[in-house]
Amino acid sequence: MSQPTPLPETSMESKEDRGTGSESTPPLHLLIPDLQLLRLDHAPALLAFERENRAYFAASVPDRGDEFFTEFDTRYAQLLAWQAAGTDYFHLLVTERGEVVGRVNLYEVADGSAELGYRIAQKAAGRGLATAAVRKVRDLAATAYGLSRLRARVTLDNPASRKVIEHNGFVAVGELTLNGKPAISYICEFR
Ligand SMILES: CC(C)(COP(=O)(O)OP(=O)(O)OC[C@H]1O[C@@H](n2cnc3c(N)ncnc32)[C@H](O)[C@@H]1OP(=O)(O)O)[C@@H](O)C(=O)NCCC(=O)NCCS
Repeated sequence: MSQPTPLPETSMESKEDRGTGSESTPPLHLLIPDLQLLRLDHAPALLAFERENRAYFAASVPDRGDEFFTEFDTRYAQLLAWQAAGTDYFHLLVTERGEVVGRVNLYEVADGSAELGYRIAQKAAGRGLATAAVRKVRDLAATAYGLSRLRARVTLDNPASRKVIEHNGFVAVGELTLNGKPAISYICEFR
């Protein structure tokens, strides 16, 4: 069993955080989140993130169901076990206050490939966080995790998500039905 490699310091710079260089202390709502590998002590903040954004996420991706919340501790332990086994890497965007504002996950790691998934808190959306966080995880996949390619699938009715991966070098390779909707499959190959 391989233990996940600790991530380097990875503050995410959002669109709004990019200023003129003359600013000193950013306003509270522009706290820059760190990208962190999932840990046991993240559990309460991750649960709060999923609860607060449940309806928002369900507008774009399938709701996880009440069981996700009632069985949260059991499922969380499973995630940590998969990560320890090297079959998945779960990343969180964590603010300086310890609040989770996003997730970027790599699933089904095998044969140099993995599936990408991500979600950003409604209150942090539209600031470039998903684009920046996916870039960071893509770079980790190519370096720290030693992968050769990432896969992603996005429904046609999710243009923001399509932009996130297209901005990160993913190319469309096929069409499929995902959750009952027309969707596109993407690949990002590392050179
Ligand atoms: C999709 C999601 C991850 C985007 O997160 P985000 O941090 O707001 O994304 P970013 O700010 O990095 O970038 C969004 C891009 O989409 C664009 N966008 C946003 N809404 C859009 C819309 N309705 N139509 C077209 N483009 C849109 C933005 O302009 C931006 O593009 P740009 O950089 O060229 O200006 C977030 O909305 C989310 O978590 N949604 C629910 C879960 C989900 O859909 N996950 C992905 C499943 S495949």
